[in-house]
Amino acid sequence: MTAPEATIIQITDTHLSAEGERMHGMMDTTSNLRQVLDHLDASAIPVAAIVLSGDLTDAGSPAAYELLQSMVEPTADRLGAKVIYAMGNHDDRASFRLGLGLAYNGSTELGAPYDVVHQVGGLRIVVLDSTTPGHHDGHLDGAQLDWLAAVLEDPSPGGALLVLHHPPIRSPITTVDFLRLVEPAHLERVISGSDVKMILCGHAHYTGAAAVAGIPVWLGPPASYRTDPVPPVGRHRAGIGHGFSRIDLFGDSAVATAVDVVGVDEVYNESQSVVLERLRSLTPQAR
Ligand SMILES: [Fe+2]
Ligand SMILES: [Fe+2]
Repeated sequence: MTAPEATIIQITDTHLSAEGERMHGMMDTTSNLRQVLDHLDASAIPVAAIVLSGDLTDAGSPAAYELLQSMVEPTADRLGAKVIYAMGNHDDRASFRLGLGLAYNGSTELGAPYDVVHQVGGLRIVVLDSTTPGHHDGHLDGAQLDWLAAVLEDPSPGGALLVLHHPPIRSPITTVDFLRLVEPAHLERVISGSDVKMILCGHAHYTGAAAVAGIPVWLGPPASYRTDPVPPVGRHRAGIGHGFSRIDLFGDSAVATAVDVVGVDEVYNESQSVVLERLRSLTPQAR
């Protein structure tokens, strides 16, 4: 058995509020995030990075970013993970930078797109800001695409992951489709043939997958609440449910797995080695 070379945790659409307001009058997003982090803490798996892929807060208050950081970073420290933040359409660039203390040194406009590159071992994680202040759909401007092209020109030994809040793909949900990344062909042109192994997105509030330029696109399960992908005709519906993703790197592949945090009452809980031995005895040809 070969362990993944690296495990990345993606938490998306946390939609935190600092004052404990309930999202849509009922969702306690702080409690949901707590459950996600408790799940990770209990696992104690080695994690190279925790990626928060946008809509970190519901209304962009600086205190909500501070709350998020105070919750996520202790877990990241315990797991040995770097924390990587990306902007979403519910975020505010200035509050995001100031609340999270993100390398703001006065040389960058507080309201400029938050695009950044993180090197995690041999893996490069590129964060692109697909938001436009005052809009909920996704945009990347020419300067951002030029920057991305320059970053990807020099491949990283372990390849790259691209983090982008707005999915660059169509959606079967009319409202999500309406708010997708516009003109994805520009992005496709830049990433085509690059070392990007997977694009990690949020925003849709459901779990899904597609491909752009042959590169897998992963829509991670939201940490706040879920859009119903099959609502009654003519309805836009959401329900309770939250989780996160693990992205495991095996050679040239990135494998995305959705993790439900609700509904995980144990069906069984056995020693992995015991189960593996049992499986080996049943499948002697397997390695
Ligand atoms: Fe969201
Ligand atoms: Fe969003």
